[in-house]
Amino acid sequence: MSLLSVRGLVAGYGVGEVLHGIDLDVADAGTTALLGANGAGKTTALRAITGMVKRRGSVTFDGTDISGISPHAAARLGIAHVPQGRGTFVQLSVQDNLRVGALRRSDRNAVRTDLDRCFELFPILAERSRSHAGTLSGGEQQMLAISRALMTRPRLMLLDEPSLGLAPAITRRLFALLPQLRAEWGIAVLIVEQNAALALAQADQAVVLESGRVVVSGPAAQVAGNDDVRRAYLGT
Ligand SMILES: Nc1ncnc2c1ncn2[C@@H]1O[C@H](COP(=O)(O)OP(=O)(O)OP(=O)(O)O)[C@@H](O)[C@H]1O
Ligand SMILES: [Mg+2]
Repeated sequence: MSLLSVRGLVAGYGVGEVLHGIDLDVADAGTTALLGANGAGKTTALRAITGMVKRRGSVTFDGTDISGISPHAAARLGIAHVPQGRGTFVQLSVQDNLRVGALRRSDRNAVRTDLDRCFELFPILAERSRSHAGTLSGGEQQMLAISRALMTRPRLMLLDEPSLGLAPAITRRLFALLPQLRAEWGIAVLIVEQNAALALAQADQAVVLESGRVVVSGPAAQVAGNDDVRRAYLGT
C-alpha cells in the first residue's frame, strides 16, 4: 500500500504554474526517487506535498487526504522535510539542533535512544555535539539535517538533493543509509537526487519529471533501463 499518494498535483509560485499535474507514490517504508533536470520542478513537488506552496490536486498520506494541510500539520503527521541546501540552525550546537527535532515528543527515553542512534549513524556528530552547527563542514551539516529530521520520528522523509556539495565517498555513505532507515527506523523516503545512478540503485520506485510533467515512472529497475533515462541521466 502507498504511504504517500499524489494525484494530479498542480503547483507554482504566484500566477505561474510549475507542476502541471503530477502523480507519484511512496510505499510504506519504501523509497521513491524523483529525478529530473535543473528547474524541472522537483523541489516544488516536495514543497507542494507539505503545503509550502500553493497547490491543487490530491495528496493522501496514510489513507488521509492532506491536500489542504499546512507545513506544520504535515510535520505533526510524520512528514519530515530536509530541504535543499540543508537548513540547520547554525547558531545552535549540534546537540541542540537534534533536541529541536525532538521538541514535540514526550517519550523522553526514546528520544535519548534515538539521539544515541543518530550518533551511531554519524559518529562525527557525537564528536562535535557541542560545536555550533555553523562550524560543521557541508557534509557534516547534511548529516545533522538528516539526523534532526530523524529525531522527529517521521514516517516519511522528503530528502531534497542530500548529496549536493558532498564528496563522493560521503555521498555513498549517505545513500548506504537508506536501506537502514527503512529496515531499522521504518521510514519511507522520497528522494530528489542529481546522481540518478545512485538514487535508482537505492529506490524501489522512480519518477522522472520534465518541465513539471512526469515523463517516465515505475519500478526503479525498469526506469533505469529506459533508453531515454539512460541517455539523459545515466550517461550510458
Ligand atoms: N520561489 C520561487 N518563485 C518563483 N519561481 C520559482 C521559485 N522557486 C522555483 N521557481 C521556479 O520553478 C521552477 C522549478 O523549480 P524547482 O526549484 O522546483 O526545480 P528543481 O527541479 O528542484 O531544480 P534543481 O535541480 O535546480 O534544484 C523553475 O523554473 C524555478 O525558476
Ligand atoms: Mg531543487
